[in-house]
Amino acid sequence: MSQYSFKAPCPFINSTKKQTVPVILLQEKKFRGWYSKQKASLKNQINNEGFEGRARQNMLHYDSKGNLCCVIAGIGDPVHIYDLAYVAGHVQKALSDKVLKASVFEFTMISGSDNINKACIGWGLNAYKFDRYKSGKNGTNPVLLWPKDADKNYIEAQLSGVSLTRDLVNMPANDMGPVELEKAAREVAKAHKAKIKVTVDKELLKQNFPLIYVVGDSSPRRPRLIDISWGKASHPKVTIVGKGVCFDTGGNNIKPPRAMLQMKKDMGGAAHALGLATMIMRMKLPICLRVLIPAVENSTSGIAFRPRDVSPSRKGITVELSDTDAEGRLILADALTLACEEKPDLLIDMATLTGAARVGLGYDIPAMFSNNDKLAEELKAVSAKHDDLVWPLPLFDGYRSELDSDVADINNIGTGLAGSIHGGLFLERFLTGKPDWIHLDMYAFENGGKPGRPRGGADTGLRAVYALIAKKFG
Ligand code: BES
Ligand code: ZN
Ligand code: ZN
Repeated sequence: MSQYSFKAPCPFINSTKKQTVPVILLQEKKFRGWYSKQKASLKNQINNEGFEGRARQNMLHYDSKGNLCCVIAGIGDPVHIYDLAYVAGHVQKALSDKVLKASVFEFTMISGSDNINKACIGWGLNAYKFDRYKSGKNGTNPVLLWPKDADKNYIEAQLSGVSLTRDLVNMPANDMGPVELEKAAREVAKAHKAKIKVTVDKELLKQNFPLIYVVGDSSPRRPRLIDISWGKASHPKVTIVGKGVCFDTGGNNIKPPRAMLQMKKDMGGAAHALGLATMIMRMKLPICLRVLIPAVENSTSGIAFRPRDVSPSRKGITVELSDTDAEGRLILADALTLACEEKPDLLIDMATLTGAARVGLGYDIPAMFSNNDKLAEELKAVSAKHDDLVWPLPLFDGYRSELDSDVADINNIGTGLAGSIHGGLFLERFLTGKPDWIHLDMYAFENGGKPGRPRGGADTGLRAVYALIAKKFG
């Protein structure tokens, strides 16, 4: 499986000669007025089904000959990004492949560009599937006629970024090691004529990335630092760093089976960085973008680093490696120091860093840390607006000393309970020159499965970060 060519679903069409099926989108406040004008048979069905225009309620209506004449769907006010995934999902289940192939759906009764764009994204997300390892591929996606006020480029960019992120996480670790992650990054760079430089194996030591090397040295699948750059140098400099641990066994502090089972997703931060880069480059945002991905495998082996080993870092401070399972912060530390050397206007790192963040916020909400409260507020606000919530935790001064080490300048694990805050405080130590910085501790996986969000690799905070960058610099 060497060739990726990840493709986003695109269940949309520009024009059609087919008879379209209206999808009547009703906000609760519009429902009564609309209902009063309908014919008796439809009113009857609406009453029988208990449809009241609530978001995500939906029903198919057939004429007296049994032909599908419309889909009636409740939507939020404002529309929620997944509202139309519920509708498209229901339509897809209710109709045969033959009818789906013969039909084109068309939104009616929706207004406002944000609502229309969200509705289209939701419709598109219903079509996301990871089936590259399945033999029998089946299922026809319901196709939507592009609404005339939809921002096609934006919608396609969002769907590409989200799909790429999910695909990269979904790939099994045997086909998504450091080499393959580099390949995927090269594809992303090539598609947008971005520059890419990759520093591999011993060269990491020569170029002074000792922490990336010490983690990655545990595996025969050699470590590397992927460095993508794109955009005019005169534009504001935005640097994204993504944790690329292609598999996290925990190293000598080996994980128990249940925890290790999920660890192909430990390059979720890198997957988010590449998904975000895809969105930014497709939209040609006027920024100077840099993406840094330290890509390693945290393996168990005779040469793997041990608890309480000490390593230098790019920053120059020494680190006591008390827990080999707290490896993500180590590789990010060197990448963040490198990022700071160029004095970015905004620096964001994304990482599946701690289980502790999940205890506090569950799977869907990344924990956000920032050295700039105003910036954190801005991200929190856009994340809510885009139905992609992130939530702040403090870089609490009082816990800094919990990372003290007896033998080195800093320890890679803390004492006490605040595991996710320790991760944030650890990373902050490796910045230089006080850039505006955000750290997102995320899960990157959907355990349950919802319409538009199947079980597996998931975007968590991706659309929010895009929205922040577009708002600040777009
Ligand atoms: N990749 C894990 C974090 C993780 C685990 C994220 C489960 C999401 C779900 C990370 O490398 C790790 O193992 N962190 C340790 C840190 C600890 C040793 C200080 C953790 O969270 O237990
Ligand atoms: Zn770990
Ligand atoms: Zn990890």
